[in-house]
Amino acid sequence: MHSSTSEPGVAGQRGEGGGPEGTGGAGGAGETGGAQGAQRARLLTGDTPTHTGLHLGHYVGSLENRVRLQDQYECYFLIANVHALTTLAERPEQVRDNTLGIVKDWIAVGMDPERSVFVLQSEVPAIAELTFLLAMLLPFNKVMRNPTLKTELETKGLGESYSFGFPMYTVGQCADILSFRPELVPVGQDQEAHIEMCRDAAMKFNQLYCAVGNRVPPEGHAAAGGVFPVPRAQVGRVGRLKGLDGQQKMSKSLGNAVYLYDEPRAVAKKISGIVTGRASMTSPIAQDHVLLQYIDAFIGGERAAEIRAQYASGREVKDGLIKAELAEAISRLLGPMRARREELEAPPQPGRQGGQERVLGVIRAGIARANAAAEQTLLLAKRAMRLDFGARRLGF
Ligand code: TRP
Repeated sequence: MHSSTSEPGVAGQRGEGGGPEGTGGAGGAGETGGAQGAQRARLLTGDTPTHTGLHLGHYVGSLENRVRLQDQYECYFLIANVHALTTLAERPEQVRDNTLGIVKDWIAVGMDPERSVFVLQSEVPAIAELTFLLAMLLPFNKVMRNPTLKTELETKGLGESYSFGFPMYTVGQCADILSFRPELVPVGQDQEAHIEMCRDAAMKFNQLYCAVGNRVPPEGHAAAGGVFPVPRAQVGRVGRLKGLDGQQKMSKSLGNAVYLYDEPRAVAKKISGIVTGRASMTSPIAQDHVLLQYIDAFIGGERAAEIRAQYASGREVKDGLIKAELAEAISRLLGPMRARREELEAPPQPGRQGGQERVLGVIRAGIARANAAAEQTLLLAKRAMRLDFGARRLGF
């Protein structure tokens, strides 16, 4: 049932040989992900396409990290389009558009679909299967107590009327990660609870089915024969960027975000709308004020320290000027990204692929490569669980 979903055009690109062999040695066939073929440690992270694009919070929390880590790690970047249905099940068109938007943003910030693998969650059946298997290991009440999940259920105001799939997505996220057996998961601070759950699931699996002893520390699980290395979270340089409202974290759903594709005028308008709440132009500003957080994050260095000192000095500081400087710094950062994103939105021309086609090509190539890796993992997991009754091969 799975093999009919992808384009015949990508057959054999990279997925070839990735289908698990019934008796093949572990780690052989599927280890084709790295473009250089070198044995680099793996990394996985991802985004949920609940909005048309990513914002500055994503950038400083994770995206810039990802770009840098591509040299050191074999990277898997996942688009959690099934998870987007937790809130958008009634708007499949929107999830599709958002998915394309995220891939455009990724390429625009410098995530490289040649060196790294872009994983479309809905086309990797092993993830769904592993979700079910892991769901058997995680206590229901523990899942429901996951603080990130609880906050989401509260802030989205769904009351009791959320879908079964909503809490399920947290188990799914464990499977997203473990399907690729990464060591590192670079995420924003809000995701740490999920990574903790994922670590629990990996350890429980290894202990139950791979005879890894209870006293083996997490970092020793793989060496002790566990199918799953116990992954570590890595939070970016700004774990939690505040939103323009200065209260909550920057978030798609709260309408307090600066998007990576925002034009300079939009950026200037948003930044100028930040409320400093000073009584006069000589009043100080709270050390943890959102304006200062942005100045640290996007201006940085000595100039940021200078601005902080100015605000603390009791001399006159014009918020408008500072905000203009900040908006300019942000737009300078975003400029090249916007330009690259625009290319990906260009219509096709004679002899040249349109942006949309290119993005779809990237997604399809990623599907083949992702399945090669994830199928290999699933086979190892099934073997460990005595579920290995016969190998299958997915075709691409
Ligand atoms: N839940 C993450 C977010 O919304 C996205 C995500 C899905 C993810 N699966 C993942 C992140 C696996 C890291 C690893 O930001």
